[in-house]
Amino acid sequence: MNNKSNETKYNEQIQREKMDPAEGMRPLPWIFTMLLGAMAMWGGFYIVITPSGVHTEYGDQRTVSLLRPAVEGAVPSSTSVNGKQIFIGKCSACHQATGLGLPGVFPPLAGSEWVKGDPVSLTNILLHGIEGELKVNEVTYKGAMPGWSSLSDGEIAAVTSYIRSDWGNNEPVIDEGLVKRQRDMTKARSAPYKNAEEIKSGT
Ligand code: HEC
Repeated sequence: MNNKSNETKYNEQIQREKMDPAEGMRPLPWIFTMLLGAMAMWGGFYIVITPSGVHTEYGDQRTVSLLRPAVEGAVPSSTSVNGKQIFIGKCSACHQATGLGLPGVFPPLAGSEWVKGDPVSLTNILLHGIEGELKVNEVTYKGAMPGWSSLSDGEIAAVTSYIRSDWGNNEPVIDEGLVKRQRDMTKARSAPYKNAEEIKSGT
């Protein structure tokens, strides 16, 4: 023993040492492995039994047309012009979606004698616009509205018919023929109407 070299003694000492602890690989608990397997099988089974290519009963079933009633009005129609749509797009910025306008600035269309009154005057207002004083529901407005002659006869008929039928207004529709006739009758006019008399004169 004594004749062992120092080096050998040292090596023996090292071999007696315990290994440094280290993290080993531990297998997943079997129950967990089975659970994963079961989930994968259920997923495959679900994909196989779920019908594809047919109308699905799952998820949000609202269609595009159901999501758009506010813009398209009560009667969705692809062919005829929709007056409410034109109103929202061209008029509601000033006259407001409520048809009440803005006090002192934009006159109301709800309950307005111009909207509910003579279809010819209303059509004239739309075709040529107004400038100067105009009395609406006992209040005098001093604004200006450009004419809407760039809208087609059908579009003017649709939007005037719409404003005559919402917010408590309940007047007969204005037809396209009347708009066409007024456009011809007032061909010579190039400036907006200046007052109520001019509008009523119909030229
Ligand atoms: C830029 C703002 C503006 C827009 C947009 C506008 N208007 Fe007007 N409208 C006015 C103003 C201002 C008057 C009043 C003019 C005056 O005081 O002489 C008026 C007056 C009227 C009148 C007669 C007065 C009344 O209240 O009944 C009608 C009808 C009317 N507008 C309908 C329409 C329609 C329909 C549209 C959309 C096609 C439209 N307006 C878009 C500003 C606007």
